[in-house]
Amino acid sequence: MMKDDVARILITKEQIAARVKEIAADIKKDFGDEDLVMICILRGSCYFFADLTKSLDNSVTLEFMSVSSYGSGTTSSGEVRINKDVSSPIEGKNVIVVEDIIDTGYTLSYLKRILSERRPKALKICTLLDKPSRREAEIEGDYVGFEIPNEFVVGYGLDYAQKYRNLPEVGVLKEEIYKK
Ligand code: IMP
Ligand code: MG
Repeated sequence: MMKDDVARILITKEQIAARVKEIAADIKKDFGDEDLVMICILRGSCYFFADLTKSLDNSVTLEFMSVSSYGSGTTSSGEVRINKDVSSPIEGKNVIVVEDIIDTGYTLSYLKRILSERRPKALKICTLLDKPSRREAEIEGDYVGFEIPNEFVVGYGLDYAQKYRNLPEVGVLKEEIYKK
């Protein structure tokens, strides 16, 4: 069972649901009733993206991007590659990038740079989780769900070697699982 590999629950379903509503309210404060393009960074932010976009009453275009920065391990390579890009130009649009976690920051600093070169009207970074103690690249989330300590977490979209994404809460993975 997946949950046997989790040392402890860090963030409950209820805490996530409440925070998603607060982030939606913050986005609303910044953008009012304007149209938004929201970009889901596959695959880690899939549930957060689904819940967050449904919490907004704006007209939202859903876009999906896939980038790779990690192999199946738990540390960043610092190398980022686009595997799948958005399907329409973002020039002149209000763009919100929705990510699962900012760790070293390499992925989002790279993404922010290449997306801003496309001249959106606004470009904001929204992340469910933030591990500020791990930061190597200079990047900050405009909307941050939870700051967490330097522990490897899984669930609510976040994986270890593609597993545990469908846990409904965020939990700390037992060290013995990834130190094997
Ligand atoms: P960064 O480029 O180091 O900021 O890495 C971001 C990516 O690393 C995220 O999109 C995740 O896929 C992955 N990642 C970083 N920390 C964790 C974690 O604790 N659990 C699961 N994935 C993580
Ligand atoms: Mg991942």
